[in-house]
Amino acid sequence: MREQLIREFETLFGAGGDIRTYFAPGRVNLIGEHTDYNGGHVFPCALTIGTYLIARKRNDNRLFFYSKNFERQGVAESDLNCLKPGIDGSKWISYPKAVMWTMGEKGFPVREGFDLFYYGNIPNSSGLSSSSSIGVVTGYMLRDMMNLDGLTMTDIALYAQYAENHYNGVNCGIMDQFVIAMGKKEKAIYLDTATLEYEYVPVELGDARIVIACSNKKRGLGDSKYNERRSQCEQALADIRTVKDVASLGALSIEEFESIKDAIKDPVCARRAKHAVYENQRTMEAVKVLEKNDLARFGQLMRESHLSLRDDYEVTGLELDTLVEEAWNCDGVIGARMTGAGFGGCTVNLVKTDAIDQFIEKVGARYFDTVGYKADFYAVDIGDGAGEWK
Ligand code: GLA
Repeated sequence: MREQLIREFETLFGAGGDIRTYFAPGRVNLIGEHTDYNGGHVFPCALTIGTYLIARKRNDNRLFFYSKNFERQGVAESDLNCLKPGIDGSKWISYPKAVMWTMGEKGFPVREGFDLFYYGNIPNSSGLSSSSSIGVVTGYMLRDMMNLDGLTMTDIALYAQYAENHYNGVNCGIMDQFVIAMGKKEKAIYLDTATLEYEYVPVELGDARIVIACSNKKRGLGDSKYNERRSQCEQALADIRTVKDVASLGALSIEEFESIKDAIKDPVCARRAKHAVYENQRTMEAVKVLEKNDLARFGQLMRESHLSLRDDYEVTGLELDTLVEEAWNCDGVIGARMTGAGFGGCTVNLVKTDAIDQFIEKVGARYFDTVGYKADFYAVDIGDGAGEWK
């Protein structure tokens, strides 16, 4: 595929020069949802599918972007003076441009133009973080091509998050960018988002695999609802701080939360905060039980996570609930829950290998009957984080 994409790059932009190739994965979160902007823990892993980037520096200040995923849009042209939040609307080029702008904000301005060719094999709008994958692959490419060897992979993740927050207006946490930059084959990352301390944990599922079910629901208002959830948690924390000095919701144990929760004035904010606190504790337990190979308990925690996201955080909806609730009824399913931001997107399922076909058939049929369109299913593998593509 690499040679093929390079040929396509050369057909579009001409041959010659120093052409380099990069890859950044998509991600799936096993547990720890909507905890990353609350100072809690997350437990995601990188996938072997992701975004490929073919890049070459130019001698002028022009920027040319092409995505094989949006072939009809052709080549988009811009230049280094046009890196400004708000000017790209919802076009896909706002993701790479956001990271280029961020480099300038962080003291490493991009001074030469680029020809850039992207290709992603993450299903579009699936909630497997295709946009963060584009951001991180762009950041990695800039570090390499601008010889910024002092920047760490954590810096790249933080810059890609900054780009999302300040250029694209999505107040996301650090989970996606971090695991996309730092992921490791066959391991999940147990990350404390309050300190960015992390640990690689082997995901040994024996005779089971991770199966992702994609709802194919367009996310629509997802971003604004995401930001709303975040501010509801901030409101809850502000109320709690009137009675107790705490750094974040993630710093609270369940007992502490239960003893001070009445300080939260708005009942909706109280439910959001409850999710954030309980989900963080569930994630901490999930890692412990996985280390002990107690997959049954891990699956139960996934179930509790989904219920909390459904009832207290209210980010699931008919599509994700149908996929998950039917999965719970299937033989050979160890655990199932929604993954990512919610409001559409995907579910993550741990399914015994010999039950996967039946699982897909059963959940797929129930989904089609209930929702009226198809879901897609992918058995996935855990891969490495961003790097050069050789
Ligand atoms: C999105 C965000 C992440 C995280 C998840 C929910 O994927 O980008 O930072 O908040 O939603 O866990």
